[in-house]
Amino acid sequence: MGYKDVYAAWKADPEAFWMQAAEPIDWDRKPSKALFDKGDHMYEWFADGMVNTCWNAVDRHVEAGRGEQTAIIHDSPITHSKREITYVELRNRVATLAGALRAKGIEKGDRVIIYMPMIPEALEAMLACARIGAIHSVVFGGFAANELAVRIDDARPKAIIAASCGLEPGRVVHYKPLLDGAIDQATHKPDFCVIFQREQEVARLVEGRDVNWHGFQYGVEPAECVPVEGNHPAYILYTSGTTGQPKGVVRHTAGHLVALNWTMKNVYNVNPGEVFWAASDVGWVVGHSYITYAPLIHGNTTIVFEGKPVGTPDAGTFWRVIAEHKVRSFFTAPTAFRAVKREDPKGELVGKYDLSHLRAVYLAGERADPDTITWAQRMLNVPVIDHWWQTETGYAIAANPLGIEELPVKLGSPSVPMPGYDVQILDEGGHPMKPGELGAIAIKLPLPPGTLPTLWNAEPRYRKSYLEHFPGYYETGDAGMIDEDGYLYIMARTDDVINVAGHRLSTGAMEEVLAAHTDVAECAVIGVSDALKGQVPMGFLCLNAGCNRPHDEVVRECVTLVREKIGPVAAFKLACVVDRLPKTRSGKILRGTMVSIADGKAYKTPATIDDPAILDEIKEALATLGYPEKAA
Ligand code: COA
Ligand code: AMP
Repeated sequence: MGYKDVYAAWKADPEAFWMQAAEPIDWDRKPSKALFDKGDHMYEWFADGMVNTCWNAVDRHVEAGRGEQTAIIHDSPITHSKREITYVELRNRVATLAGALRAKGIEKGDRVIIYMPMIPEALEAMLACARIGAIHSVVFGGFAANELAVRIDDARPKAIIAASCGLEPGRVVHYKPLLDGAIDQATHKPDFCVIFQREQEVARLVEGRDVNWHGFQYGVEPAECVPVEGNHPAYILYTSGTTGQPKGVVRHTAGHLVALNWTMKNVYNVNPGEVFWAASDVGWVVGHSYITYAPLIHGNTTIVFEGKPVGTPDAGTFWRVIAEHKVRSFFTAPTAFRAVKREDPKGELVGKYDLSHLRAVYLAGERADPDTITWAQRMLNVPVIDHWWQTETGYAIAANPLGIEELPVKLGSPSVPMPGYDVQILDEGGHPMKPGELGAIAIKLPLPPGTLPTLWNAEPRYRKSYLEHFPGYYETGDAGMIDEDGYLYIMARTDDVINVAGHRLSTGAMEEVLAAHTDVAECAVIGVSDALKGQVPMGFLCLNAGCNRPHDEVVRECVTLVREKIGPVAAFKLACVVDRLPKTRSGKILRGTMVSIADGKAYKTPATIDDPAILDEIKEALATLGYPEKAA
């Protein structure tokens, strides 16, 4: 069957399609049906099944005779180390860790925050939670203590599992002081913290609260897998919304298992036993789905890569890892390829490695620009597939499903909707638009298994953010179009979310931080085009009347403040002081117009603008930062 047949089969009978996709999962109790319509546009999948994620990702492969297969390869050019863990070793390690958590009182439904860098122990912590039905929430290491504190207060974890440190090129990220600071700041306090001591920095433990990763596992009874209901939350993953309060995306257990397993063959075209590599971070959704869960559920070998596309030690690292571990499918963000291309445009380092095992490359996380795709195609000589998805969906909404059929690539398009997703382009009034017309991208409800059923403890926010604008649809927050052949084009976000080096960030959250500076009366943050990172944030600051301090001093403090409050990952380095911000007569800041000016794009002065002269002031301020010349 080709793509069109598979998509049509899903559309004709979604229930049968998903029940069939559920077959390869090991159920403790099979679900009686796939979709559970709870009314009022709320849905769940396989809710009455009983199942365990860790069993499906680990134990069952051991039972099936794959125990000696490598489950995880840790390749860390930063620490100059490599290590392999087989499925049977993984089972034993995870069962003991789960047993130790259970012995300290962690039970089904308890939340556990995981704050760890790219080490296998991060995956083991996730799987140990899944083993006993605890709900994990992984926090990315590039966030500051304040962001961690916000997540602690929202998820209210009974335990936090952290490493002593992370490693960025040239600097140690001191996780433990960040963790201690976050716990001090948070209102909710965890019962205990488990600290994995890395040799690069051993952290001081807080007596009575912190336990050592190895020590607390001594002599415990390993835990068996606890079957949970299909609609039991497997995890919460916080992602940026329009405000400083991140959204806690909930992932239910059964749909997650079924959908991820389906994608491994159909989208990524790998067979059990083959090596799959997603060069992302466990703190992001790509890391959850394609470093930890999907490859393990499907019986593949996954790579945990602790390094960067360039500088660890050079722009040939990706090719070295692919060659050395015989990677079949490779997943990264376009920005990573842009970084490699900038250092090695002719691909001289590619030729040094045997890439004959590589069958395809997948890009996601941000728009894949045609230049980057054609460069990668030329260098690697395999299909380079752009695919589009979000933290909320957990896997691809649109892709070129190589395991079903290799569709012609159209540059600039992540290809076609996957089964489960009825994608529509809507106008402001919610009416479907014609092929080629630009509008809001929405997905007809219900969303397929594995996608978010709600936000953690925030159903009203879930409805407001995703369901209210277009009744009967999920609003993706992206704008774009569908062409005559059904190919999707993702053009821009419709909200205040920006994408910096494949990282999703909220300009609203940065504005909240800047507004808290004592000299800042008002501010706006926009995303401007950047040749490497896709977008970078830029801040415009209006200072309080009477503030006579040098502008560059205030700017420097603001840059530091965002780094301290949100984290280095925000990459907030550009800001300028302006007298006023351009606004509509009703007081709405004209961020879109500012972006066009910064990017050097044609724009129309909005008819609703309060005072058009302010745009000239914005141009002058931008010129001091070197824009629009510096924009991509
Ligand atoms: N822990 C702590 N700090 C982190 C971090 C982590 N896990 N990840 C990034 N940072 C820091 C960086 O060290 C950098 O700090 P600096 O301001 O002191 O230099 C800052 O956050 C910004 O990082 P980044 O935006 O990643 O820029 P970079 O210049 O370090 O690297 C690239 C540029 C393109 C090489 C890098 O962004 C990259 O590899 N991107 C791919 C992203 C990706 O895979 N995303 C997954 C989504 S699918
Ligand atoms: P995240 O939740 O971090 O995965 O970010 C999701 C957002 O990243 C989407 O809503 C898009 O705006 C953007 N995005 C992800 N993949 C793509 C893609 N292939 N093309 C264009 N934009 C993308």
